[in-house]
This record gives sequence, structure tokens and C-alpha cells, in this order.
Amino acid sequence: MARPKIALIGAGQIGGTLAHLTAMKELGDVVLFDIAEGIPEGKALDIAESGPSEGFDAKLKGTQSYEDIAGADVCIVTAGVPRKPGMSRDDLLGINLKVMKSVGEGIAAHAPDAFVICITNPLDAMVWALREFSGLPHNKVCGMAGVLDSARFRHFLAEEFGVSMKDVTAFVLGGHGDTMVPSVRYSTVAGIPLPDLVKMGWTSQDKLDAIVQRTRDGGAEIVGLLKTGSAFYAPATSAIEMAEAYLKDQKRVLPCAAYCDGELGVTGMYVGVPTVIGAGGIEKIVNITLNDEEQAGFDNSVNAVKGLIEACKGIDNSLA
Ligand code: LMR
Repeated sequence: MARPKIALIGAGQIGGTLAHLTAMKELGDVVLFDIAEGIPEGKALDIAESGPSEGFDAKLKGTQSYEDIAGADVCIVTAGVPRKPGMSRDDLLGINLKVMKSVGEGIAAHAPDAFVICITNPLDAMVWALREFSGLPHNKVCGMAGVLDSARFRHFLAEEFGVSMKDVTAFVLGGHGDTMVPSVRYSTVAGIPLPDLVKMGWTSQDKLDAIVQRTRDGGAEIVGLLKTGSAFYAPATSAIEMAEAYLKDQKRVLPCAAYCDGELGVTGMYVGVPTVIGAGGIEKIVNITLNDEEQAGFDNSVNAVKGLIEACKGIDNSLA
């Protein structure tokens, strides 16, 4: 049986890390695409040369041609510009929207059957635009952010409770921006919801509130430290978790930016919700119920994403 083909669109820090992880995990053969001549070729060759020491079997190719992604099973899109200190993700909208147009057209022409995972910011609006430009089915196009934000939340919680992150589950809902909604009620340590852990005295509400805010600021914290760009290890790992769920039909329950058609009260747009990912792509959106406070936070986040989508329509007439 032929190995799956994984196309990585964008060979920056995240693209390179994705290529390395894909090879190390033997998920398939890698095509690393970028318009910058030499970068994808150099990174692909460098990673391939690590194969004999690591012991993986994977072919890696760097390219500037969309023709090389032909028939890809998975496309992970990181193309575009990352933010720098002092910028918000939303500041990238104009420049990255143009990039999504050419990427969407390239995928539509050469890999129309792929499962597409978008990482480019501002995430929820860019995944919406990418879907519009590509015309692929909604269930085959999604955005990575919920897995990343939830991983950050889980990491901070595991540190606070002094337990393995394996025993911490967490969900972050809404858009991948300052309005995201780390869900305290649906997050647990060993199955015990966080509010109960506060009642038990294992942590305080103040500490929990601080962790929620740190999660919301998680991307900016890394940007502030790196100064030259944004996070890449955790974003890449999150996307690989989603790609693996698709390729291996794992039916993982993962929060990601998915197209909602009435679920959680959202219609006709992408936003972070719990999903089931398997061989059918986004096979299901888990239609959880929210209490009044959670609903207000979620609606606020949805409205922020709506505003960005309207801004996209204002920039590119073909989206209107
Ligand atoms: C992240 O959350 O790390 C990414 O969205 C990159 C960023 O600009 O924060």
C-alpha cells in the first residue's frame, strides 16, 4: 500500500517542524512547498539526512510548484506571515488573506480530496477564506487552534495541580484570539471538573482565573519571548495530532475551528468547537450545552470572528 502523502504549504518554522514530525512519526511522505526558492528544498534534504540516525522511512521533497502536491491526502497550511511583538493576530488579516487565495486555488487544482488543516492567522477567518477559495467540502477543511489552546491550558493546569498532563483534559472554545473561551466546566483532572477541584480546596478560583487568562494570552507570551516570530513547536504538534486522527481514522474528540451549521447556535462560519476527527474529516461537532456565562463568552468570541470574516469580504470581492 502506498504511503500517505502529506503536503505542507509553507516552509517556515512551523512548516519545517511539521515536516520533521511527519517523518519521525512515519505518517507518510512529505512535500514541503514554499514560494521562497531553496528553503523547502534545504529543509526537506536536511530532515531526510536525519533519517538514517533516527531510523524513519519517509521521502521528503521541497518544491515551489503546486503540481508536486498532486493527490495529497493531507494539506497543512502555514503559509503567510507570523506576528511580531506589539501586533495582534488580526493585524495579519490583509496580508495573509492574499496568501490564502493562492493556496486555496492551488489545493483546489491539485489536491481536492485532501483533508486540509489551516494554521495561518487570524485563524478562524483564514480557514473560512481558505475554504471559500478552495471550494472543498466544509468537513474536509478545518483550523488547528483549539488543539493548541487546549494543550496550553492542559499544560498550565498540570503544572498547577502537580499531576501528569495525561490526566488533565481541557477544552478551549471560540475563536483563536483574545476572546477565546477556555472552558472551566468541561475541563477536568482525572475526570473531576475544575469547579469541583476548587470546592475541594485543591486550587483557588483566583489561581484558576489566572490560568484561564494565561491560556488566552498563550500565543502572545511566546511572541513576547521569541521577539522574531511566533510559536512553532506546539502549533506543529497540534496539527500533527489532527492529521494523525484523520489518517488513522482515530475518531479523536478534538476542539478545532470547524464549520458550524447550527451547532452551538452558530451558522455558516468557522469557530472553535469540540469535534470528532476520523477518516471522514470533521465527522461530527459535539453540540455541548453552555450555561449563560459560557454562552455570553462564546457569543462574544463568535462575534469577533464574524467581524473578521466581514473584513475579508470587504478586502476581496470574490468572497462577498
Ligand atoms: C499561537 O497561538 O501561538 C499562534 O496563533 C501564533 C500567534 O501569533 O500567537
